[in-house]
Amino acid sequence: METAAKLLSDEVKRFGLERYVLELESDGLTILPPEVTGVTPEHMDRCTQALLARFTEMTGGCPITVEDGPLGELTWPQGSGLPLTDKDAPQPSQMLIQQTLRLDRSLRDLAVNPVVDALIDHLMGPSAMRANGNRAAAQNAKARRLSSSNSFVKWQGDFGYGPALGLHCDQGATPLPWGRVALTANATWCLTDYTLDDGALAYVPGSHRSGGHPVQPRAAQDAVAAEAPRGSCIIFPGSTWHGAFPKRTPGLRLNAVTYYRHASVLPQENVSVTMRDEPWQDCEHPEVMRELLGLDDSFPYVEQSFPVPQLAAAG
Ligand SMILES: [Fe+2]
Repeated sequence: METAAKLLSDEVKRFGLERYVLELESDGLTILPPEVTGVTPEHMDRCTQALLARFTEMTGGCPITVEDGPLGELTWPQGSGLPLTDKDAPQPSQMLIQQTLRLDRSLRDLAVNPVVDALIDHLMGPSAMRANGNRAAAQNAKARRLSSSNSFVKWQGDFGYGPALGLHCDQGATPLPWGRVALTANATWCLTDYTLDDGALAYVPGSHRSGGHPVQPRAAQDAVAAEAPRGSCIIFPGSTWHGAFPKRTPGLRLNAVTYYRHASVLPQENVSVTMRDEPWQDCEHPEVMRELLGLDDSFPYVEQSFPVPQLAAAG
C-alpha cells in the first residue's frame, strides 16, 4: 500500500526491517535475532565480562558468574525499597547497573547499532529541535535521544514483581493521552537466553494501542513472555505494558538496556552532561552517538545561548 510504504524510512527499507516494523505496530514489541543486528557472540562475551566485572566492583568484591550467579552473600541497605515491588517482597534477586555506556566500547556499540537505530527512529520520527549553530543538520534531525543505559543483573530467587508482574509503561510519567509517536523506547539486548523460567520480560501484546496505563488484573492475565535466544534485541515503545517473570532457574538472566527518549522528554540520566568527558567517541558510529547524547541540542542549555547586542563604540 503506497501510503503505508511512505512511512518507512530509507534505513528500514535498506536493512529489510519491514516485518519488524509491522510487529512493532501490531504487537508493540519485536525481537531482532543477532543475524539481523549483526552482533556477534564475541561482542556479547565482551559486554558480559564488562558488566560482571562492574557488578563485582560495585558490590565490594562479590564474585559472579553467568552459570551460578553471585557467589557471595549480599545484604541490601535498609529501606531501599525497589520500584514496582510488593511491600512484602522478599530480598531482591536483581540489581540494576546504571551508566553502562561508561564501562566499555562493546556497550557503546550496542547503542549505535544501525539496525536498532532505524527501528527506534521509526518509533520516534523527526525532531523540530534546532541543533546549536547547525541549521542545516536540523533539516533532517531525528527525535531519538538516549535517556539512560543500564543492565539488569537478575539471579534465581522468589523475588519478582508479584502477581501483577510489575506491569507498567516506561513513558508513564508523561501526560495522557498518548499518540502514535513513542515518547520513550527500550532496546533490551539479551546477554543470556530469555525464557519464561529464566525470568523473561513480560508484556501484553497490542497493549500499546490502548494509549494508557495497564488495567489489572486483566493485564497480568494477558501477559506473555518475550522469549529470545542470547544475542537477540527486544524493542518496544514506552507505551507497551511490560514487566518481568520471576527467575526460577540457576545462574543469571543478564541484559544490556539502551533506553531512549523523544527529544522533547526529560532523560533519566543527564547524558549530555555526564558523558561529555567520557570516551563517547570510542564506538562504531561516533556521529550517531553524538546525536543520541544530544551534545549539540539547543535544550537544555547551560549558559546564554541567544545572541546579545553590544553598545556600539562612540564616534
Ligand atoms: Fe520498564
